[in-house]
Amino acid sequence: MFPREKIIFSGVQPTGELHLGNYLGALKNWSALQEHNRCFFCVVDYHAITIPYQAKVMSKRVLEAALDLLAVGLDPEKCVIFVQSQVPEHTELSWILSTLTPLGELERMTQYKDKASEHRQNINAGLLTYPVLMAADILLYQTDLVPVGEDQTQHVELTRILARKFNNTFGEYFKEPKVYEATVARVMSLLEPNKKMSKSLGPNHCLSLNDPPEVIRRKIAKAVTDEGGPNGERVSGGRNLLNLFKVLSEDKPLKKELEEQYQAGELKYAEFKPLLADTIIKVLEPIQARRAELATKPQELQKILLDGRDKARLIAQKTLRDVKERIGLA
Ligand code: AMP
Ligand code: TRP
Repeated sequence: MFPREKIIFSGVQPTGELHLGNYLGALKNWSALQEHNRCFFCVVDYHAITIPYQAKVMSKRVLEAALDLLAVGLDPEKCVIFVQSQVPEHTELSWILSTLTPLGELERMTQYKDKASEHRQNINAGLLTYPVLMAADILLYQTDLVPVGEDQTQHVELTRILARKFNNTFGEYFKEPKVYEATVARVMSLLEPNKKMSKSLGPNHCLSLNDPPEVIRRKIAKAVTDEGGPNGERVSGGRNLLNLFKVLSEDKPLKKELEEQYQAGELKYAEFKPLLADTIIKVLEPIQARRAELATKPQELQKILLDGRDKARLIAQKTLRDVKERIGLA
């Protein structure tokens, strides 16, 4: 089903608990891809410091993000899991790539514009150059495919532009990576279905992978089912909930029946919502159980990350040597 032996790279920011959007838009694919490919999965802590954060809790956040990756099924025997700031070649290549990046490309990035308006008091240069560091992450490993949600495709496109520009300037070297598309490109907020599910909107907009069953039932019960708000694209909350059911449930006839009811405007939410909540709870149960078990073994987690660092670094160092040679700094 998957292309064999491709090189895969993806990253997640250690910015708190993962939600169902992260899982369906990205992480679920990651565990499938590790079976037949060379995969690198990275906790991107240098990206996370581009917005205000608490230094005291950052190292805990990084470990928790790594724990989440293992809980959703990543297996350190099958893929490389590591922390970005432990492989200094990422920032080194990022600097080199920044000298090839037109400012205009960075200024038109949607994520930059969104974050700059969200954090008006702290529009730092790192927020603008964020996609260059992401390009460095990806290019260091000669990545073929980048499994990310739809919101990140613009950054992968920039990565391709930078690879091309490097190759044209210094001779063919980098592969041009492509996005590996998720089954669900975008999971929407439970309360404002015209916006994507995101931690920054607040806990009731999201279903966290760690939410206990009663919290999931409550959040789904309160989820909006009509059209999204007056601003921006209009997305139906009911459609978002039905899409969640369709991707999480294995009951094909029931999915078909509910879709027909929805199309006819006859979906009964009082019955559908508890059904959806139960389905989500069932999917999250094994993830939560694995996470609880792994949390009791912090030393094992440390070892996995150190091993991952060493494996990643070996490749990153070689790429950086090649790059420096090509740009005349060897
Ligand atoms: P982040 O938490 O922003 O680091 O995102 C981690 C991964 O989850 C990225 O690949 C995102 O594209 C993906 N992602 C985040 N939010 C959503 C969402 N609401 N729907 C689908 N994918 C998402
Ligand atoms: N920018 C990504 C996000 O917010 C995280 C990320 C950083 C990433 N570097 C990456 C994703 C490299 C894929 C590949 O989700």
